[in-house]
Amino acid sequence: MLNKKICVIGLGYIGLPTSALLANRGYKVHGVDIIESTVETINRGEIHIVEPELDTFVKSAVNSGNLKASLTPCEADIFILAVPTPFHDGFIPNIDYIISATKNISSYLKDGNIIILESTSPVGTTDKIEKILNDSGVDTSKLFISHCPERVLPGQIMRELVENDRIVGGITPEATKKTIEFYKTFVSGEVLSTDAKTAEMAKLTENSFRDVNIAFANELSILCDKFNIDVWELIKLANRHPRVNILQPGAGVGGHCIAVDPWFIVHAGGDDAKIIKTAREVNSYKTQWAIEKIKNQALKFEIENSKKAKIACMGLAFKPDIDDLRESPALYITRELIKSELDILAVEPNINNFQEFNIIDYQEAIEKADIFVFLVAHKEFKELYIEDKEILDFCGVLNR
Ligand SMILES: NC(=O)c1ccc[n+]([C@@H]2O[C@H](COP(=O)([O-])OP(=O)(O)OC[C@H]3O[C@@H](n4cnc5c(N)ncnc54)[C@H](O)[C@@H]3O)[C@@H](O)[C@H]2O)c1
Repeated sequence: MLNKKICVIGLGYIGLPTSALLANRGYKVHGVDIIESTVETINRGEIHIVEPELDTFVKSAVNSGNLKASLTPCEADIFILAVPTPFHDGFIPNIDYIISATKNISSYLKDGNIIILESTSPVGTTDKIEKILNDSGVDTSKLFISHCPERVLPGQIMRELVENDRIVGGITPEATKKTIEFYKTFVSGEVLSTDAKTAEMAKLTENSFRDVNIAFANELSILCDKFNIDVWELIKLANRHPRVNILQPGAGVGGHCIAVDPWFIVHAGGDDAKIIKTAREVNSYKTQWAIEKIKNQALKFEIENSKKAKIACMGLAFKPDIDDLRESPALYITRELIKSELDILAVEPNINNFQEFNIIDYQEAIEKADIFVFLVAHKEFKELYIEDKEILDFCGVLNR
């Protein structure tokens, strides 16, 4: 197997770590991206994204000659598609990148090739790849087309790429078998076999499960606020039941996975995707609810003190201890407060340069702010001692 050549399409958070790992395992990897600067950076042995250990992997992969990046695909034995799958306006799944990547590889395919879709995809997308290839004049009868969804955690990608269990679903049982053989060469977790649609739905299900359970916690937090109960204490107590495990509420749900993927099910499932749709709505509502709470607190301060409150927004990232702002409710809240002309001091210890507005050090915020709004439970905030200031803690960072 190691003498196989692999062509990876899309060199982002998934494609680049996968390429670098495979190249370090001895595969010849040809990585493709449409962004020229990405290709150039990788060919210098450097990286364009932040991920622990990735720099070492990429450097040694490029130095060994096993990893080369390019703007165009080439002939290979195995093709891996790791391109983005966002949504269009109205939460309609956008598989344009998959369609274009599939068309781009079509002229390089030959009998016996394995084509693996790793992007998180709406149910039926892997079948569509076969159709797109057929429409491009490719005889797919001797190709092996599968879906193998990625489920790594940013920050732990290099370890989880190897250790996580994987689900493989081919459009035929032979495709499943061939694809599993490949993953078994570098995955130490179990590689589980199913069909393409089930594999697609499994990935969407995993992220919807998280979303629904966070929605439950977020709803509890709103109810507890109404009943004047400390939600953090409540959850700690309820979780002492041996079969209860409530997640933590927050300022909403963000990131490019959990806040996006459930919509793929809702779009296809319509009225039958009741809980999944409602969970999305509850989590988005939590963000709006937080904005209203902050505005009310600011108004109260202004009335009581005859001056405008300085409000410190503590954290902008979509989750603790990272710099990722994609779909971040904390960033959304901060933007909305700025738009409402409140006096905002933004704090994000994981980001140094931000073009849109000024970010200040949290120590400076402690000196200047009247109201503290904790939006993300970054480790730097856990030990903060804030005296005689108003605090709204949406992420429970002070209660942990
Ligand atoms: N990042 C994660 O933690 C994670 C985890 C699990 C699943 N996923 C899924 O993996 C997929 C990829 O996500 P990502 O985070 O790596 O995205 P990303 O945006 O970091 O990377 C995608 C790359 O693909 C490139 N690209 C787009 N169209 C292309 C084309 N036609 N040909 C070649 N390159 C092209 C882009 O320039 C970009 O560099 C998505 O479906 C995502 O939902 C991501």
